[in-house]
Amino acid sequence: MLNPLRNPDRRLSPAAVFLVGVLLLLLAASPGMAEYADVILNQHAEQEGVRPVIYPHWFHRIRFRCKVCHHELGFKMKAGGNEISMAAILDGKFCGMCHNEEIAWGLEHCHRCHSGLPGLKTGIRGDNKAGGPGEY
Ligand code: HEC
Ligand code: HEC
Ligand code: HEC
Repeated sequence: MLNPLRNPDRRLSPAAVFLVGVLLLLLAASPGMAEYADVILNQHAEQEGVRPVIYPHWFHRIRFRCKVCHHELGFKMKAGGNEISMAAILDGKFCGMCHNEEIAWGLEHCHRCHSGLPGLKTGIRGDNKAGGPGEY
């Protein structure tokens, strides 16, 4: 039998080893706070004197099926694609459908949602789109 380590054709090239090393380093160096594909919501927030909202999409995606939010609750699958207002949330719509002290903690914890640094624009943080229907 051939020993794959002895077979020069099967050995990883030094360039490939280097690349894997760099990737590992990048992963290790990424800050713990920001997660890829968080959605920033700042259509009115900052104008109205509160911090932009950071919506941790993956945190929610591992807890609920896509269809819960994007079909049953009616969230459009587009960053910034929903006209979300605090009045609607307080009225039990959008985030308020779960953040009501029953399914998840309630709306009095303003800073848990309004946690973005001033100046963040509505869109996907980390530039890592989930991809639309048919792409994920
Ligand atoms: C708990 C609710 C919730 C769940 C579950 C959820 N999403 Fe989302 N999703 C949202 C919200 C809120 C936004 C942001 C909408 C906005 O900016 O107005 C969003 C945005 C998106 C976007 C546009 C941003 C991007 O990353 O490209 C896509 C695509 C998407 N969701 C796909 C999915 C898929 C696929 C699943 C299941 C694997 C899923 N979502 C599960 C609430 C949810
Ligand atoms: C569960 C998440 C969540 C919590 C908790 C929350 N908000 Fe919001 N809030 C949002 C979202 C999402 C928006 C829409 C962001 C945007 O695109 O501008 C928003 C928007 C706002 C706005 C902008 C004006 C408007 O009417 O849309 C104000 C002001 C605001 N929130 C105040 C508060 C205050 C004060 C609290 C605490 C008492 C609070 N919010 C708690 C998610 C939340
Ligand atoms: C389908 C239900 C559902 C919807 C809709 C929903 N959430 Fe949540 N959210 C949850 C649950 C459940 C948790 C976990 C609560 C806990 O840990 O006690 C959570 C936790 C969070 C957290 C804390 C994440 C962490 O790291 O601990 C934030 C921030 C948050 N939600 C923001 C939002 C915002 C903003 C919206 C609207 C754009 C929203 N959520 C809509 C169910 C939902």
